[in-house]
Amino acid sequence: MPSGDAFSGYHRRDVPAPDPELTRAGPGTPCGEYLRRYWQPVAYVRELASPLRVRILGEDLVVFRDRGGRIGVLHLHCAHRGTSLEFGIPVERGLRCCYHGWVYDVDGRCLETPGEPAGSRLCERVWQGAYPTHEFAGLVFAYMGPSERRPAFPLYDSYEVPGHTLMPAARFTLPCNWLQIKDNSMDPVHTAFLHALSSGYQFTEAFGAVPELDWQLTEAGMVYIATRRVGDLVWVRVCDYMPPNVHQFTREIEEASEAKPASRPIIIRWAVPNDDTLTTNFELAQVDPAWGLTPEQVAQPGFGQSDDRPYAERQRYPADFDAQSSQRPIAVHALEHLASTDRGVIMLRKIVRDGIRAVARGEDPAGTQWKEGRAVRTFTQDVVLAIPSAADPEADRRLLRETGRGVVSDSAR
Ligand code: FES
Ligand SMILES: [Fe+2]
Repeated sequence: MPSGDAFSGYHRRDVPAPDPELTRAGPGTPCGEYLRRYWQPVAYVRELASPLRVRILGEDLVVFRDRGGRIGVLHLHCAHRGTSLEFGIPVERGLRCCYHGWVYDVDGRCLETPGEPAGSRLCERVWQGAYPTHEFAGLVFAYMGPSERRPAFPLYDSYEVPGHTLMPAARFTLPCNWLQIKDNSMDPVHTAFLHALSSGYQFTEAFGAVPELDWQLTEAGMVYIATRRVGDLVWVRVCDYMPPNVHQFTREIEEASEAKPASRPIIIRWAVPNDDTLTTNFELAQVDPAWGLTPEQVAQPGFGQSDDRPYAERQRYPADFDAQSSQRPIAVHALEHLASTDRGVIMLRKIVRDGIRAVARGEDPAGTQWKEGRAVRTFTQDVVLAIPSAADPEADRRLLRETGRGVVSDSAR
């Protein structure tokens, strides 16, 4: 037998189950109940020319706009005998099932049962499952939790960026669990490897410098601070994670070739579980009208975010879709070897686990406490500062970390 653990494949074949507490999103699961305490995007308004069938948190739903202009989210199968309401007909008030013409209002109330005798009061007893909706910037959100726990719709300060227009952006689906997609958002070191050193420069060359990393808890959730030395310049990139499944980032266009003040044009992205092994990302983007982009261009997923490339190309130049979805359909935490660069992933999972346990105890999880209409502070930005290198590499690394922290605390004032 070879010594040590060399050629130990035979002894390492077992694949334990994924963490059920953090990864199961269906009805009645601890994490599913947690995710249902937040407003979740379910569709874009642009997709509602006809009723749209969607699967969200393991539930089959239809999203529609009635002819009066109101948006509804109903359980997919008609309360009469189960025909799918994706074949329904929007009417002035509500959605009419194609099979026998029953009509449901956006709150699920049955308004008509046209085949029943005149004077029938059957309607009064029939309700279709429905969820409250909120339309914001071309995106339709639904609240799928218990009515008495419905939170205010959070207004992140990033929704207002001077000179930019908040626009509905890309929707794309990954064949994997939602949490590994969110893990990626607090894993900035991958931008140096996956997006630069491993597979060619996918964004800018500046991403190829391995950053000094830091993470901090914030009122809204947490941030990563990735600080890079580029000659006599220091580039600080800050991104936010807002529980349970939102993150935001600056556009990947920073060249770090000259000092410049903080810029915040950003993408805000929700990773919504369709079920445990399928997740749809919904994005809003802050767009500068000077870029001259059409809504169709804004709605295109970024490079390598979706499965729109041939397999051979994905193998040669892998990107986010490939890295995230290939961690198994549900990443198995028990097999991981977490490293110093995974501190953000560990913090993110703790936020999620604490939230799940808070819900299980009957409390409201972090990120549901916002007051109606009050802006929630976030920190996403790129800033490039002129700071010559310190004398030795260790002192320079310290300088980078302090500079990164300084940027976040300055912007908190
Ligand atoms: S199944 Fe919908 S009206 Fe009969
Ligand atoms: Fe990435």
